Amino acid sequence: MAPPIEQVTAQGYDLQFGTNFLGHYYLTTLLLPALLAGAKSSADGKARVVNTSSMAHIAGALDYNTFKDSPKRKKSSTMNLYNQSKFANIVFSNELARRFGDQGIVSTALHPGILSSDLQRHMKIPGLELIKSMFLYPTPQGALTQLYAGTSAEGIEFNGKYLIPWARIGTAAAATNDPQQARQLWEWAEEQVANI
Ligand SMILES: *[C@@H]1O[C@H](CO)[C@@H](O)[C@H](O)[C@H]1NC(C)=O
Ligand SMILES: *[C@@H]1O[C@H](CO)[C@@H](O)[C@H](O)[C@H]1NC(C)=O
Repeated sequence: MAPPIEQVTAQGYDLQFGTNFLGHYYLTTLLLPALLAGAKSSADGKARVVNTSSMAHIAGALDYNTFKDSPKRKKSSTMNLYNQSKFANIVFSNELARRFGDQGIVSTALHPGILSSDLQRHMKIPGLELIKSMFLYPTPQGALTQLYAGTSAEGIEFNGKYLIPWARIGTAAAATNDPQQARQLWEWAEEQVANI
């Protein structure tokens, strides 16, 4: 979260977009054949994918000019780029749900809670450690909502849903649900990993 703006991936992507979205997109698509086979052979006919997003997605939007390093990206803020990457997680999760829901994939996205962890290490907020100990939730609690999506019996029905802490169904920003935007992002991501 919010690393220095100079930091990009080895391939020149914005570090947060590359790490939080594109790398995970690639991992998920590489695993997809195994997930689909697993869904077919499992008793409930399902395979679950849980995408960890954040409430910060609410302030996010997709600006293709910032996915790789560019003057536009340099003018953006690291928090804005964080919000964008978390927005992309939900757009992706919803598109995965649309494309593969009828083949047994149960794709969910969620906000895990505002947790006291290493995530804030780049943020220069005065009194951060005190704020963390007083107002943020302990790290292990941040696994609850994922476990609920990934392992509860009712989670089978959650394809395309967005969850909030602790272990509840919530509502993501409406903008994450635009199928045309999702198709465009999916195709962009496909092109990025096509020649690996
Ligand atoms: C979606 O979920 C998978 C499996 O949990 C995870 O590896 C990845 O972070 C998520 N993908 C995206 C693009 O958010
Ligand atoms: C990012 O999202 C957070 C949480 O919604 C919000 O407080 C913040 O203003 C956003 N930052 C930017 C730069 O959009």
